[in-house]
Amino acid sequence: MEVLKALFTRRSIRRYTTETITKDSMETLLKAGMYAPSAVNCQPWHFIVVESRERLLEITKIHPYAQMLKQAAAAILILGDENLEHAPGYWAVDCGAATENILLAAHGMGLGGVWIGIHPRQERKKAFSELFQLPSHIHPFALVSLGYPAETKEVENRFVRDKVHYNQW
Ligand SMILES: Cc1cc2nc3c(=O)[nH]c(=O)nc-3n(C[C@H](O)[C@H](O)[C@H](O)COP(=O)(O)O)c2cc1C
Repeated sequence: MEVLKALFTRRSIRRYTTETITKDSMETLLKAGMYAPSAVNCQPWHFIVVESRERLLEITKIHPYAQMLKQAAAAILILGDENLEHAPGYWAVDCGAATENILLAAHGMGLGGVWIGIHPRQERKKAFSELFQLPSHIHPFALVSLGYPAETKEVENRFVRDKVHYNQW
């Protein structure tokens, strides 16, 4: 899919068919995440691919807005590594870029996905750190739920001219 078309038609998809995601497609999504820009090109990220149904269901118990995982084919947990970041706090900014890259790639590949927020909510970070037994320098940032779409969504017009400023506020 052409890049601007993908950008302007991406929506959060929370209903999925039972079709699974191939290993090749999953690798493409992970590669898309790793091609994101990051401060001083530090690439301070890791990814946990969650394919186990049991694990997906466990997540629905620790996250109130992740019920779509009951249907999802898989999910990618995006993690920030504070030992690799450029300066304090940058891991989260860099992980945001990686997360959006994964969502756009998924859409371009005919998959549907949704960004499930974890950082900066401390109680969610703690729950994910415990469930996935993360070391203390690894921060859970967001989860992307994935599957082939079983819903379609309207394309919205989100361009708001009043939010654009030229040369000064
Ligand atoms: C930081 C962040 C956290 C989000 N957390 C959740 C979430 O926990 N559960 C969910 O269903 N959607 C979540 N979303 C998706 C938003 O609800 C969605 O992007 C927004 O409503 C705009 O809709 P769109 O993605 O279809 O353009 C999150 C999005 C962002 C950027």
